[in-house]
Amino acid sequence: DAHGLITMLFDKVDRILIDSCQKLCVISNCAVGTENIDIPYATKKRIFVTNTPGVLTETTADLAWALILSVSRRVVEGDTFLRDGKFIGWRPSLLLGVNVYGKTLGIYGMGRIGTAVSRRAKGFDMQVIYHNRRRNEEVEREIRAKYVDFPTLLRESDFLVITAPLNEESQGRFGIEEFRKMKRTAVIVNVGRGQIIKEKELAFALKEGIIWGAGFDVYEREPIVEEGLLNLKNAVLIPHLGSATEETRTKMADIAIENVILALSGNIPKNLVNPKVLGENKKS
Ligand code: DGY
Repeated sequence: DAHGLITMLFDKVDRILIDSCQKLCVISNCAVGTENIDIPYATKKRIFVTNTPGVLTETTADLAWALILSVSRRVVEGDTFLRDGKFIGWRPSLLLGVNVYGKTLGIYGMGRIGTAVSRRAKGFDMQVIYHNRRRNEEVEREIRAKYVDFPTLLRESDFLVITAPLNEESQGRFGIEEFRKMKRTAVIVNVGRGQIIKEKELAFALKEGIIWGAGFDVYEREPIVEEGLLNLKNAVLIPHLGSATEETRTKMADIAIENVILALSGNIPKNLVNPKVLGENKKS
């Protein structure tokens, strides 16, 4: 009987669900990503689909940096080491990491989150290179980020941060062939979508020292995590926390509710993902 649905990323909104909601006018996803929803089918059924863009950009960029720093400076390993009672004194070669300052930051997917991650790199005096479907001239002007082709991104990044959404081009884009083209000292961080990286192949690359480390917030078969990653000390793995702050999750919830209220009161919701629906004969 629902006229509106508020859904989370893990709620699969497929044809079966949509067909079982005969009165449905709006599906309001409480996330920026919408790959859990069959958008073409919702559009065909004249249902608005909305998301919560913008409000989680800075929060997710902060988390990308938390991963960059914790992998490169072995923060999680250090914490475990100390709690295990192994800290018996300063040693010159204890838990050596890699420098971040002055290195090259590579961004795969220079949208809102990629831009926010890049801005933070200024404080680390990093050179920023990026690869994206389209050039982002604003970011090139603002932070002197340099557009490069995909092989150059792989070859030159010291820290490669994935902020791209999942689409035909990004799906499975990083596998063993790509890791072999990266520096042995490189760190890869994924705050975009899990299916962009072939996790089994990443686990192999990390184990064999083909790349230096990885920081992950999203997984290929979420919430299942590739077993091979779980025992690796050079991987920092966190449970999809990109937007997880009190402030941001509250804003996301407010936006999700507002989108439903607008749609159900006969207005066009602010964060419409399927504007094509407007061309259809909208339900009243
Ligand atoms: C999103 O919004 O798509 C994030 O992955 C969860 O906050």
